[in-house]
Amino acid sequence: MLVARRITPVLLALLTVASASPSARWTTSKVKDSIEPPRNWINIGEAPANHFINLRIALPQPNFSELERHLYEVSDPTHERYGSHLSKETVEELVKPSEESMDAVGRWLEEYNIQEKDCKKSESSDWVRVRVPVALAEKMLNTKYYTWKHAVDGEIIVRTTSYGLPEAIHGHVLGVQPTTMFGRFNKHRSSISIIKDAPEVSANNGTITSASGTVVDGSCNSTITVSCLKELYNVTGNASTTNGNMIGLAGYLEDYANFQDLQDFYAEQVPEAVGSNFSYVLINGGQLNQSEPGEESDLDMQFGLGLSYPTKGVFYSTGGSPPFTPDAITTTDSNEPYLDWLDYVLNASSVPQTISTSYGDDEQTVPYDYAVAACNGFAQLGARGVSLLFSSGDSGVGDGILDPKEQTCFSNNGTNATIFIPEFPASCPYVTTVGGTQSIPEVAVSRFFSGGGFSNYFARPSYQDDAVTTYLSSLPNGTYAGLYNASGRAYPDVSAQGDRLRIFFDGDATPIGGTSASSPVFAAVVALLNNERIDAGLSPLGFLNPMLYSVGFKGLTDITEGHNTGCGTTGFNTSEGWDAVTGLGTPNFGLLKDILLTLP
Ligand SMILES: *[C@@H]1O[C@H](CO)[C@@H](O)[C@H](O)[C@H]1NC(C)=O
Ligand SMILES: *[C@@H]1O[C@H](CO)[C@@H](O)[C@H](O)[C@H]1NC(C)=O
Ligand SMILES: *[C@@H]1O[C@H](CO)[C@@H](O)[C@H](O)[C@H]1NC(C)=O
Ligand SMILES: *[C@@H]1O[C@H](CO)[C@@H](O)[C@H](O)[C@H]1NC(C)=O
Ligand SMILES: *[C@@H]1O[C@H](CO)[C@@H](O)[C@H](O)[C@H]1NC(C)=O
Ligand SMILES: *[C@@H]1O[C@H](CO)[C@@H](O)[C@H](O)[C@H]1NC(C)=O
Ligand SMILES: *[C@@H]1O[C@H](CO)[C@@H](O)[C@H](O)[C@H]1NC(C)=O
Ligand SMILES: *[C@@H]1O[C@H](CO)[C@@H](O)[C@H](O)[C@H]1NC(C)=O
Ligand SMILES: *[C@@H]1O[C@H](CO)[C@@H](O)[C@H](O)[C@H]1NC(C)=O
Ligand SMILES: *[C@@H]1O[C@H](CO)[C@@H](O)[C@H](O)[C@H]1NC(C)=O
Ligand SMILES: *[C@@H]1O[C@H](CO)[C@@H](O)[C@H](O)[C@H]1NC(C)=O
Ligand SMILES: *[C@@H]1O[C@H](CO)[C@@H](O)[C@H](O)[C@H]1NC(C)=O
Repeated sequence: MLVARRITPVLLALLTVASASPSARWTTSKVKDSIEPPRNWINIGEAPANHFINLRIALPQPNFSELERHLYEVSDPTHERYGSHLSKETVEELVKPSEESMDAVGRWLEEYNIQEKDCKKSESSDWVRVRVPVALAEKMLNTKYYTWKHAVDGEIIVRTTSYGLPEAIHGHVLGVQPTTMFGRFNKHRSSISIIKDAPEVSANNGTITSASGTVVDGSCNSTITVSCLKELYNVTGNASTTNGNMIGLAGYLEDYANFQDLQDFYAEQVPEAVGSNFSYVLINGGQLNQSEPGEESDLDMQFGLGLSYPTKGVFYSTGGSPPFTPDAITTTDSNEPYLDWLDYVLNASSVPQTISTSYGDDEQTVPYDYAVAACNGFAQLGARGVSLLFSSGDSGVGDGILDPKEQTCFSNNGTNATIFIPEFPASCPYVTTVGGTQSIPEVAVSRFFSGGGFSNYFARPSYQDDAVTTYLSSLPNGTYAGLYNASGRAYPDVSAQGDRLRIFFDGDATPIGGTSASSPVFAAVVALLNNERIDAGLSPLGFLNPMLYSVGFKGLTDITEGHNTGCGTTGFNTSEGWDAVTGLGTPNFGLLKDILLTLP
């Protein structure tokens, strides 16, 4: 667990002296990253020199391509190593930086009197953290930190738009954060007020036949419950409780899962689960305040656990971005919490086989080095046999604003050009990204819009080459040319119901929606599939995409209606086969189970 370090005497001394004078070799600084002042953040003045920040220095992983090769081999159903996941130790060996990089970074820190004992580092040494006052960080990074206030919600953070590193260590450091990181991992859910304002959907008293041929209660067209999803997604059979299978749900931003809300939900929708519970892990000061139930976490836990019951569940509550008071000496590490979670989970000896996360932000607000560090961390989990599901976002091809009419879709490369705005971590090639559907038969969700598109950071992985090139070649020539990067990793991979799910929040039944719902729903199906595999003596599924694009799609229901409006366009259209709105489609548990039990 990454608890903020206490201030050591050494660092306190630095705070007052802050005048260590490194040798010339360390002072010829070369810019490492430089960005445009980010939209919506207002510079409100210099950061206080004595404010502490927790620098995270990421080192290059020269053998990462080896890890990636292992990841793809053990995730490819046609490969002889399918399912032979790597141990924690093997993965750590593969992401180890070179000795030269470790030495160079160590010597650079020593120039500022920062010793090994002042630092915290990962088991593989691919990152080093050190807590320093702004005044010292400014010297080390040849920069000036400012306090920034968000124009819309008033959040305050300490960041810079440019920083440098001595030439001598440029190649030994991937990046240092928080510096240029302005991303904020928002919840992917539409607000309850939007749901309440939404037009009524006429009730259907009979049954409806879904596109896959399953028969679903008519009420499910207006309200989604656990039994609706079981009918719709052909979930049959009884999971075992004793095979060690687990599902994890990640929570951030002081959004807390509530025990009583879960019991109320169970009482109504999963009576056999009443009295069962989930465990939780508090990371980096995260809490689980039962007086403050969170809609996002309640949604994630209720559908993630309700649909996968009796799979054991764990809730991760990661702290890390509390309100910041600029004049207090050390109120916050002013860090963004995402990598804190990853650092914790990567160091855990045992990790749930399936984990869902419903948070993300515009890819372009996440510095490239940060996105790479996080994405490579997901690859490590995949190689260890963990299936990671992320929601695709709720604003279609646009920026994180739900109402397409309010989206601006400016590129932040200095030109303000209009472009489609992909989401991260949805755009990471090593995770499975889940888009949203609604109604029965299912169509792409349209009250808000299923996030989808193409990464500007990550190239298209080969597992989706065929599916994506087929889709691209079906687009009329010139469609949205210049608005998206056709060579980028395309998402979502799959989809699931994302509107009008009935949860219990703060004691009351409430309809809620968003791809925030789609991710835990799909993850619950994956957890049930893992359960079947484990019961049959097979490996868990691990990284899903190579399997999904090669054989798994036969156990998915293709969604062919709808589109994902954004940026003043109607966005991408659904189509037969993969599309940039609903991916390969929604799950059919029974068919997937039959496919997956025949794999080695
Ligand atoms: C990378 O892998 C090669 C060959 O497997 C090995 O010789 C080398 O030591 C590894 N590098 C690191 C930094 O572990
Ligand atoms: C990783 O876990 C081990 C064993 O629990 C612990 O000693 C070590 O401090 C942890 N490392 C980090 C970076 O959290
Ligand atoms: C559905 O049920 C409602 C109330 O129970 C009833 O008024 C309505 O006529 C029914 N509709 C159909 C199509 O059966
Ligand atoms: C389900 O709801 C959708 C959207 O409200 C509607 O268009 C469709 O007719 C309904 N389907 C049935 C079978 O009632
Ligand atoms: C399976 O679960 C259902 C409830 O979902 C229960 O009625 C049934 O008895 C269970 N069957 C077995 C074999 O446990
Ligand atoms: C679940 O665990 C929490 C925390 O340990 C506890 O407060 C709560 O009463 C438990 N609920 C049930 C139904 O056991
Ligand atoms: C929990 O939340 C309540 C209500 O907001 C608040 O009064 C209380 O201080 C919080 N408890 C903790 C330990 O933060
Ligand atoms: C900025 O992005 C737009 C849209 O992708 C592109 O056309 C333009 O060339 C870019 N300009 C610079 C200076 O990078
Ligand atoms: C881009 O937009 C920002 C914010 O509205 C503005 O300050 C800036 O001058 C614009 N840049 C260009 C090149 O139009
Ligand atoms: C498009 O994506 C590729 C990676 O596939 C990347 O190298 C390139 O920089 C991207 N182009 C733009 C304009 O972002
Ligand atoms: C698009 O253009 C390519 C060549 O530039 C051509 O091969 C293809 O048939 C065109 N597709 C359509 C749908 O017009
Ligand atoms: C549901 O799954 C079973 C296999 O478990 C399969 O036989 C059946 O055809 C599936 N139903 C539909 C409608 O796909």
